[in-house]
Amino acid sequence: MSCLQQEWPEPIVRVQSLSESGVSVIPDRYVKPPSERPNPIISDQPLEVEEANIPLIDLQDLLIGEDIDHGSTIILNQISEACRDWGFFQVVNHGVTLELMHRALEVWRHFFHLPIEDKQVYANSPKTYEGYGSRLGVEKGAILDWSDYFFLHYLPNSIKDCNKWPALPNHMRETIEEYCGQLVKLCGILMKVFSINLGLGEDHLQKSFGGDDFGACMRVNFYPKCPQPDLTLGLSPHSDPGGMTILLPDDHVAGLQVRRGDSWITVKVAPGAFIVNIGDQIQVLSNANYRSVEHRVMVNSAKERVSLAFFYNPKSDLPLEPVKELVTPECPALYTAMTFNEYRLYIRMKGPRGKSQVESLKSPRRIVT
Ligand code: OGA
Ligand code: NI
Repeated sequence: MSCLQQEWPEPIVRVQSLSESGVSVIPDRYVKPPSERPNPIISDQPLEVEEANIPLIDLQDLLIGEDIDHGSTIILNQISEACRDWGFFQVVNHGVTLELMHRALEVWRHFFHLPIEDKQVYANSPKTYEGYGSRLGVEKGAILDWSDYFFLHYLPNSIKDCNKWPALPNHMRETIEEYCGQLVKLCGILMKVFSINLGLGEDHLQKSFGGDDFGACMRVNFYPKCPQPDLTLGLSPHSDPGGMTILLPDDHVAGLQVRRGDSWITVKVAPGAFIVNIGDQIQVLSNANYRSVEHRVMVNSAKERVSLAFFYNPKSDLPLEPVKELVTPECPALYTAMTFNEYRLYIRMKGPRGKSQVESLKSPRRIVT
């Protein structure tokens, strides 16, 4: 297995510092080629694109105590449809309190507004990506995205190191702990729902993730104001490499767009909702019954934006391939086995590249048909 280098190929520039310096023209290295820029706001954009949104699903009646109510067929079907059709949905009545959601966003907003020296202590390297970062990928001369981030490991315990989490502001570490603990529970429930909906035993997907040895990490994204938002992106198109993602977006500012055919749909988030999306590993396990869908983030000149992306992942050294029950003569295995450790090296070296990686896993048999 190839290893990532220790250092970044160029000196790191904090996008937030650039933004706060008051430049009116963004440096060339953030300017995307014309075909990759966000669409200009066209007033005659078809109404169905303008008004479209990812499905909103109320989880209120999904559980009986701690167990999934297999009779809650309406909710199960809504989730099934959303996983097949959109790869994205939003959930309300998910069990996490509004107070905790709000507190988690606020401590992180506060962190990004600390003096640069307080953040610089956590500067990351491409070796593990843990800490305070400003680029994804190590290619010299790459065009960069207009964002900074903080990346941390939550599970497994063997790689969790709270000392690498910010010590400031007050209560940061307890808040991360509480928030991630709640999201692990929500993901556990959704893993069961996905398994049931795929016609598998309730614990099937979780077992494929390594049972209790699954992984979890979080990336907090900070998108500073941008003086030329039409020329760049906060995060380039990508699908999430892991199992599933639970995103808590900024409650004030939109920015996330999801691919739908040839269009980009701007997500309109319901109050108190989390956004859930399928990652590449569930696309592989489900033999593409569920798809990890490309998404990107736009920036704007009026408001900064914060988002918390929580990634629920398989144990990193297990080879993953389509589950046998979903492989039939009519639907042969679409992907060859790979561990998540090997898989995520690609995005860590090349940065966000649409869906090119999961496409490259396609097993040769399929291409012959
Ligand atoms: C991500 C992501 C979207 C957002 O972190 O992978 O897609 O709205 N974030 O910040
Ligand atoms: Ni993403």
